[in-house]
Formats: sequence, structure tokens, C-alpha cells
Amino acid sequence: MFHNLSRRDFIKNMALTTGALGYWSLSGCNPGTSSPASFNMCGFAAPGLDRVRVGVIGLGMRGPGAVERLSKMQDVDIVGLCDIRPEGVHTAQEILKKHGRAPAREFTAGPDDWQNLCQMELDLVYIVTPWQWHVPMAVGAMKNGKHAAVEVPAALDLDGCWELVETSESTRKHCVMLENCCYDFFELQTLNMVRQGVFGELTHAEGAYIHSLVDYMQPEGDKEIYQGNWRIQHNLKQNGNLYPTHGLGPVAQCMDINRGNRFLHLTSMSSQQAAFTEHARQTGNLQFADLPSYRGDMNTTLIKCAKGQTVLIQHDTSTPRAYSRIHLVQGSLGMARKWPRKGICLHSDGHGWLTDERMIEVEAKYQHPLTKTIGDIARKVGGHGGMDFIMDYRLIYCLKNGLPMDQDVYDAAAWSSVVPLSIQSVADKSNSMDVPDFTRGAWSTNQPLQIVDVNPELLPVQAVVEAGEQMKDPK
Ligand SMILES: NC(=O)c1ccc[n+]([C@@H]2O[C@H](COP(=O)([O-])OP(=O)(O)OC[C@H]3O[C@@H](n4cnc5c(N)ncnc54)[C@H](O)[C@@H]3O)[C@@H](O)[C@H]2O)c1
Repeated sequence: MFHNLSRRDFIKNMALTTGALGYWSLSGCNPGTSSPASFNMCGFAAPGLDRVRVGVIGLGMRGPGAVERLSKMQDVDIVGLCDIRPEGVHTAQEILKKHGRAPAREFTAGPDDWQNLCQMELDLVYIVTPWQWHVPMAVGAMKNGKHAAVEVPAALDLDGCWELVETSESTRKHCVMLENCCYDFFELQTLNMVRQGVFGELTHAEGAYIHSLVDYMQPEGDKEIYQGNWRIQHNLKQNGNLYPTHGLGPVAQCMDINRGNRFLHLTSMSSQQAAFTEHARQTGNLQFADLPSYRGDMNTTLIKCAKGQTVLIQHDTSTPRAYSRIHLVQGSLGMARKWPRKGICLHSDGHGWLTDERMIEVEAKYQHPLTKTIGDIARKVGGHGGMDFIMDYRLIYCLKNGLPMDQDVYDAAAWSSVVPLSIQSVADKSNSMDVPDFTRGAWSTNQPLQIVDVNPELLPVQAVVEAGEQMKDPK
């Protein structure tokens, strides 16, 4: 696809191959800023369901893993599968077959066939497509009376964030962003420690997505890794934090964002780019060398919260450095940090890192109930070490039992809004950008996310997970 293209042709080609990018500019002005909320979705519980019927859109690198995980839950039926590439649907049908499930109806008739899936009789549309499709697909699902679960980030611009909020409120359908990192074991433990006051009054947090994806974004010759190479297209067009929610979600929950606290404003700065083109030169993949429009390698964004805290979020998918989401939370009585090495400091223990023995004691004392209850099975099923399964299990558990969602549409909007606001700030000499109050004032009375648990008898896990069956982690 990029073979023998000049740099100019290459960039032009990027624009032409992104059919859906038009959705960005087609979404209207911010509808929600001036109008009051029609309904508060925070704490909203939809009626419970005997079985949860699911349609999955997007079966590339990540989607089949969701089909695998959902197939292990007894009261889930995957009834629709959609992808513009029939081979993805075929892979997913094979997964259903392996689990003794009935084949799902297929939707492979082009980029708008997902709209027909949304019209099926089902309860949840699970969206695992490239970023530019998230808003139209989630809105389409809700307008057709279905709950939407959408991959990260939920939206790329503020109009899209508001459209999700307005649609969820007016249809009273859940719009859950699939922020799996909120369900990782240490992140859940941290949240439990915060809720129990172990760190005192929170003052600061840090999160990141530092993960070298250069090999994925620089396919050789005509190859595609991401479908249509969508990820590099975004990276060529926008300079900011394009993927903030893995680092932000878990610390936003600790800080009660949209539930007693909120993001007020942010400032953002990007470095120059060097690692992305250096990698291209080193590998001889010269179509990616010397791309002046590629965003800066490292973006750093600093967010101010209504209760005073600061949150630092970084994004770097080019530099050859070890994976990190940082995950640092600190308060008046101590702090926890996950990367580069797990550590906790507590006022009660002095100022240094806790010893390995104390870390084990603290983990035993503050392990989150969710990981106590389903952590073992989650580790066996896998998906980023188990957090993907905990996320999906909790999603289906809440839908089935008529419970409020852990992540609601305001979380999806506020966490995703860092994408456009960081881009605007970078373009404006790091000037401060206001973060909209997507709850329209309800944040001050919304209740914080509780320390939740599940009863596995209410959603049995069907398949015995065999040793060696653990799923491969996608990027
Ligand atoms: N939470 C996580 O840990 C995590 C990990 C990886 C990816 N993701 C997210 O998952 C999403 C998909 O990423 P991926 O790596 O699987 O990308 P991918 O390119 O491998 O897969 C996307 C799939 O969507 C399909 N698609 C594109 N347009 C479509 C349309 N109009 N209708 C139906 N299908 C369409 C493509 O054919 C492709 O099979 C992204 O939003 C990404 O950010 C999240």
C-alpha cells in the first residue's frame, strides 16, 4: 500500500484511505454545553437481563479476545459479529464453535453494515474498531435501544464526547468505555487503599501510556498490521496525547472524578519527534523516515482537579523504552506507584519504600474484593494478565443483575476529552484548556465508585480453563 510512494503521496494516501475520518468533521457543535442534563446516568441501573445478547463490531487484533472472554460466561450469547474483513468474523465464529456456542449472524457487507447489527434483537453492542468509528457506532447502538461498550478512547473530539453524553442520557442506555486498566490487580488494590484512607488526602497522581508501537505502526511495504494502518494516520495528523485513558482511568477513579471531584483545566506539551523516524532509518523502512508531521515522541499533560489535585499523564509510543503506565497515587499519608517497579511508602512505616515482606502484608490486607473473588479465573483466562476478563465479567454482571456501571458515559467523555484538549493546548503554546463538565454540575453530588464485588453464582463461568489456554495479549 505504501510501496514506492513519495513522502507527499504517502501522507496524501493516508488521508484518502480513512473513509471514516469524515465523521470527525461531521459531528455538530457541542450540544451539551448550554443545555441542562436530560437525565443523570451516574448511578443509573437499567433493568436486569436473564441472558445478555451481544453483538461485536471489529474483529482485528483485539476483538477476537473479547469473543473468547465473553464465550466463557454462561449467560452471554454472542448473536452478531461484524467486520469489514470477513476473515475476522470467521476467526470469531471458530471461537464460538470451540466453546460449543451457536454461530452468530454475520455482518461483512461494508463499512456501514454495523448499522444492521445494531438493529438486531440484542442487548449490548461491543465496539472494538479503530478510534474514528467509536462515536458513530456507540451512538448508533444506543439510538437503536442497545447498551454500548466501546474501546478506548471513546471519542476523539469534544463534539464526540458530548454526543455520547447526550445520547446516553436521552436513550437511558449505558455507554461504557472499555478501560481495562481500571481492573488490573494493583490498580484495584490502590483504589481500595485510597477508599480506606491509607494514603490520606490525595494530592497528586501520575499515569501514562509508554509503549513502543513502532513496529506496529511501521509495516513493511504493502503490509497492514492495524487495518488500513489507522493508528499511524492519527499520529500523523495530531500532536497531543492520543491515548490517555489507560493511565488516566485508574487514577481518575481514585480521585472521584465526576463523582465529588472533576477535571478543571489542563496544559500540555510535546517533545520533538526523533525516535519514530530513527526506527524507520534503522530498519530501512524508509517510507516512514523523515516525516515532519509525525507528532512529538513524548507528550506530557498536566490536569488540575476541582479538589486541588494535579494529575500528570504521558504518552509515548515511539521511544525504545520499557512499558509503563506509571500509576502513581500520592496523598498526605503516603503513596503507591506501579512502574517501573511496584512500591508503596507509608507515613506509618517511615519515608522509604516498604520492604518486600511489608508489601506482601499490605497486599493481603488491601487486596480488592473483585480480585479475591474472580482473580484466579481471570488470570487463567488471561487478556493482559486477567484484567480484560475482570472488566468484561463486571460489565456483563452489572447488565445481567441490573446494577449501575463502574464506568459511565461521563467517565468516557472526561477521560477521552484529554485527546482533543491536549492537542489544542500543544498547538497553542501549552496554554490552559478548560475541561468541560460533562455532568453539568451533577459531579458535586454524584456518589464515588464503591469497592464493588461479584457473586460468581449470579454469572457462572462456563468453560474449564485449561492450562496453556491463556489468551495472547494484544497490543
Ligand atoms: N484496551 C486495550 O488494552 C486495547 C488493546 C488494543 C486495542 N485496543 C483498542 O481496540 C480497538 C481496535 O484495535 P485493534 O488493535 O484491534 O485494531 P485492528 O486494526 O487490528 O482491528 C480493528 C478491526 O475493526 C475493523 N473495522 C474497521 N472499520 C470497520 C467498520 N466500519 N465496520 C466493521 N469493522 C470495521 C477492521 O477491519 C479490523 O478488523 C482500538 O480502539 C484500540 O484502541 C484496546
